[in-house]
Amino acid sequence: MKAVILVGGQGIRLRPLTCTTPKPMLPLANAPFLLYVIKLLKTHGINDIILSTSYLPEIFERHFDQMSLGVNITYVREDEPLGTCGAVKNVENLLDSTFIVFNGDILTNLNISQLIEYHRKKKAKATLTLTSVEDPTAYGLVPLDKTGHVLEFLEKPSWDEVTTDLVNAGTYVLEPEVLRYAPQGENYSFERGLFPTLLEDGVPVFGFPSSAYWLDIGTPKKYLQAHHDILEGKIALNFEGEEIKPQVWVGKGTEISSEATIFGPAIIGNNCRVLDHATIFSHTTIGNNCEIHEGARLEGCVLYEGCSVGDGAVIKNSILGKSLRLGKKVHVEEIAVLGDNMVVSDENYLKKGIRIWPETKIEAGKIQF
Ligand code: GDD
Ligand code: MG
Repeated sequence: MKAVILVGGQGIRLRPLTCTTPKPMLPLANAPFLLYVIKLLKTHGINDIILSTSYLPEIFERHFDQMSLGVNITYVREDEPLGTCGAVKNVENLLDSTFIVFNGDILTNLNISQLIEYHRKKKAKATLTLTSVEDPTAYGLVPLDKTGHVLEFLEKPSWDEVTTDLVNAGTYVLEPEVLRYAPQGENYSFERGLFPTLLEDGVPVFGFPSSAYWLDIGTPKKYLQAHHDILEGKIALNFEGEEIKPQVWVGKGTEISSEATIFGPAIIGNNCRVLDHATIFSHTTIGNNCEIHEGARLEGCVLYEGCSVGDGAVIKNSILGKSLRLGKKVHVEEIAVLGDNMVVSDENYLKKGIRIWPETKIEAGKIQF
């Protein structure tokens, strides 16, 4: 069976990280997020994968080693974004039997084999995986009848339209014939286009409620949560690193001063240096080639590769892109998101969800929230 992974979105809610890297290629526990999606598909015997790209396509194309992953990846670029369903219509010629569609920003351990079995048992033309969430207004609402038929599809409903907590989890099993309803070469979505149209036409569309782990990583808060959940073992992922003490995973070539303190769960990548009196508190993920200088304190944050954190700096619940330079006593807190290659000189306070674009340089003491 083939799978189409939708990876063409611009990931606007994750800017500035996505200014330079498309959302599905952002690191998760120090490996590109998409790698986990590909591995999950592979676990369920799906080796034939179509990546539907649009934004920064070359970053996908030069990354995956198909041989060692044991999968066959076909990259299909859209010149203009075609929308979620338009992207699949665009590869219709490659789809001649039942296939899977995966949104490229979903962290899950969904049992895809069970999903496919359910689709077959119900003789569905389309089966949508559903998950329960606290706030359905950020997703596609999918009420079902008792037999599992989808009654309605309401994308991003208002609260007064909410009749269930079940939402579209962004993984579908489809029969190729449903693509007849989609226009060729036009921007068209599953959520506002195809699914409502199939329902109007009486085509059997089923919902598959799942209690598997599920998270859309599309905002800074959720992206941090994905890391915290992995560190807490809420979803089992195989990430790199040797467990040097309970729940502290450290990569090759990393040196940690005997005067530094690390509280797990935490991940530290390859070739890092953690200097005297630095403290890594729990739920921290540090990429390869990072330096954490004396007395710095990190907690609940994600640092991409090549970052340098100055003496006495504090980073909490925030995300640092690649190769940042933070000076002494810089504070980065409260879901701040800093783009690649920034230089933040001494004693700046970056807090309250601040987002700063890649390459920005901030002089000493300029920002004091
Ligand atoms: N190829 C291609 N072309 N891919 C696209 C395009 C496009 O024009 N637009 C979006 N995508 C990809 C994105 O890269 C992402 O992987 C996926 O489609 C979903 O887009 P998001 O922008 O993340 O959508 P959302 O999170 O607001 O809503 C969708 O996902 C929810 C579950 O997380 C909808 O499907 C909701 O109904 C659903 O509940
Ligand atoms: Mg999303």
